[in-house]
Order: sequence, then structure tokens, then C-alpha cells
Amino acid sequence: MKRLRIIQPKAGLLITLILLAPLNAGHADTDPAMVKEGEKLYQANCVFCHQADAIGKAGFAPSLTNPELLSIASDKFFMGTIRDGRAGTGMPPFAHLGHKKIKALVAYFRSFEILPNRSAEVDAQPEAHGDPRLGRFWFEQICATCHGVKGDGYLAGGTGTAIGRPGFLNKASDGFIRVTVKEGRSNTRMLGFSGSNGLANLTDQEIDDVITYMRDLPDSQ
Ligand code: HEC
Ligand code: HEC
Repeated sequence: MKRLRIIQPKAGLLITLILLAPLNAGHADTDPAMVKEGEKLYQANCVFCHQADAIGKAGFAPSLTNPELLSIASDKFFMGTIRDGRAGTGMPPFAHLGHKKIKALVAYFRSFEILPNRSAEVDAQPEAHGDPRLGRFWFEQICATCHGVKGDGYLAGGTGTAIGRPGFLNKASDGFIRVTVKEGRSNTRMLGFSGSNGLANLTDQEIDDVITYMRDLPDSQ
């Protein structure tokens, strides 16, 4: 019995260290003071839409602590989106907060990161080359159900964001879109679209056709 008591806290500590290790790896911005400031700013400016712990609400505001999003979104993507907002959607611009506070907000989201950060690798992926006519078919058959026929998102009554609008398209790389479509986002309605567990099994070429179509949408620029 005595032995067990000594072993237990050690095992607990080890687990804590393992859990903390990936958070600190490569993330200079996860310093506790900054995370704390970010959390305060979050509670004051964002919680109303993005909900407690930034888990989001389907059809209202996306999750900002979703593991797949955090692993592929660069700081540049987050900071640019927060600064400029997304015109024509419910996401207002927060340029008035200034660079430092926006950085603190991103540090707060990063403190939830549980998957390794792949954003540099994802953004370095080649541009999509595909057939927009084929992409339109898939978009209208599948994506439009949740994202709206023109990718207008919640305004079109969908549960997905405005992926056909410049607010998203100007900030997201083709790699970001490709990986999101392939892998989806856990615990949201955005399921992955490749492999037998996918909502539909789209090939890499079909996904590139869809991206090419999205970049061609009338409201995309
Ligand atoms: C069943 C509903 C559903 C379908 C079908 C669907 N999506 Fe989504 N999608 C979502 C939701 C919900 C989100 C936001 C998830 C969140 O809250 O984080 C999302 C997020 C995304 C994002 C990230 C957007 C952003 O704002 O960062 C992209 C890109 C995307 N979807 C592309 C597609 C494409 C392309 C298709 C068709 C092949 C598709 N989706 C089909 C529900 C769906
Ligand atoms: C009035 C509601 C509202 C408020 C307040 C708000 N947001 Fe948003 N936010 C949204 C909506 C709606 C979207 C999705 C827009 C779309 O359809 O593309 C969004 C999208 C985002 C995204 C992109 C997420 C993704 O999946 O690509 C980020 C990042 C974000 N918001 C950060 C913030 C931060 C940080 C704050 C506070 C400083 C904030 N938001 C305040 C409504 C809001």
C-alpha cells in the first residue's frame, strides 16, 4: 500500500509533463501572462459569440479551440482574421485592439493546442489545380447543404462558415482548405471527406476541383 501511494503522484506528474510537452514545443507565445491576458480579452470581446472556452456553436460561430483548426492555422491566419473580421458575416473586425492584444488572444487559443502544429507545412502545399465545373458539381451536391449554395455560410441558413467569401478565402491557403476538407474538424459537423469513414469519399483531384471552384465563386474576391 505504502509503495502505491508513492508511485501514484509520480505517475500523475509524468502524465502532466507528457501533456504539457507539445504545448511548449515551438510556441514562444504560450507564456502564461500572455495567455491570461488573452483569456481576459476573450471574455470581454468574443465569448458572446464563440462561447465558453471558445467551443463555438453550430450555425452561429465556429470553435476556436478545435484541435484540427489549431494544428493547421498559422498565427498569421488567426491574427489577420481577428484584425479584419469577415465582411458579410457575423465576424466583426478587431483592428482597434492593436497587434499586441490580438497576439495575446492567439496565445490564449494556442494554450488549448493538443496536436502538433503543421501550419507551415500545410501553407507550403502547392496551389490547387482542378476543373471548376466538376468542383461545382461536388460543391452543390455536398458542401452547399451546410455552407450555402454560394458559400455564404450562416447567412444562407447553413451550419458551416462562409467559405465562398473573401473574408475566409483571402486568408486561407489552398493547403489549409485541402487539409480541412480531407480531415474535417472533430466534434463539429465538418467531417472529413476522404477515406472510408468520410462523409463522401472525395479523391485528392476532386478536392482540388472543389477548391478551384471556390476560388472562382462570384463573391470570392
Ligand atoms: C454537414 C455539414 C457540412 C458539410 C456537408 C460540409 N461542411 Fe465544411 N464545415 C462545416 C462546419 C460546421 C464548419 C465549421 C466547424 C467549426 O465550428 O469549427 C465547417 C468548416 C469548413 C472549413 C473551414 C472554414 C473556416 O471558416 O475556417 C472549410 C474550408 C470547409 N468546411 C469546407 C467544406 C467543403 C469544401 C465541403 C464540401 C466538400 C464542406 N465543407 C462540407 C460543416 C459542413
Ligand atoms: C458577433 C459575433 C462574433 C464576435 C463578437 C466574434 N466573432 Fe469570431 N466569428 C464569428 C462568426 C460568425 C465567424 C464565422 C464567419 C464565417 O462565416 O466565415 C467567426 C470566425 C472567427 C474566426 C475564424 C475561425 C475559423 O474557423 O476559421 C476567428 C479566428 C475568430 N472568429 C476570432 C474571434 C475573436 C478572437 C473574437 C474576439 C476578439 C471574435 N472572433 C469575436 C462571430 C463573432
